[in-house]
Amino acid sequence: MYDFRIAAADTATMYRDLASALEGLVQGETDAVANMANAAALIFETLPDVNWVGFYRNIDGELVLGPFQGRPACIRIAFGDGVCGAAAAKKQVQRIDDVHAYPGHIACDSASNSEIVLPLIRDGELVGVLDIDSPNKARFTEEDEAGCRRLAEILSRVL
Ligand code: SME
Repeated sequence: MYDFRIAAADTATMYRDLASALEGLVQGETDAVANMANAAALIFETLPDVNWVGFYRNIDGELVLGPFQGRPACIRIAFGDGVCGAAAAKKQVQRIDDVHAYPGHIACDSASNSEIVLPLIRDGELVGVLDIDSPNKARFTEEDEAGCRRLAEILSRVL
């Protein structure tokens, strides 16, 4: 049995523990779906104040929904559309304090108010994106971004 609970004194320690738990979960497993499923569950259980955590995969130049935790979401997103499509097209992290003020934001869960999307890049190619939503405005700080970038690095290798 895996104990998901990570009780950390501060955000940096929490992300360090989360990264190490993620490394442990995916170690030795080559199945991308299994790794995305466990990663979504681990991140969803660990990060406070999040309502959706999951993946969109790059399937022939289109983002297609992958394993996630949270409410059912839109299945296909074109590169350039919404926050996920922007992260995919630019291959850059998108950290949005207020999704309702973001032109073209795709509302999957009306409870979401802020969002961070990280491109997952292996050998220069975009394999997908990791999307994390929060009901809180401006939930994701620079420190969260740094921690999530580390998670994205780990995931890029095992998808
Ligand atoms: N809000 C995202 C769509 C995906 S859902 O949040 C799960 C976007 O604008 O790309």
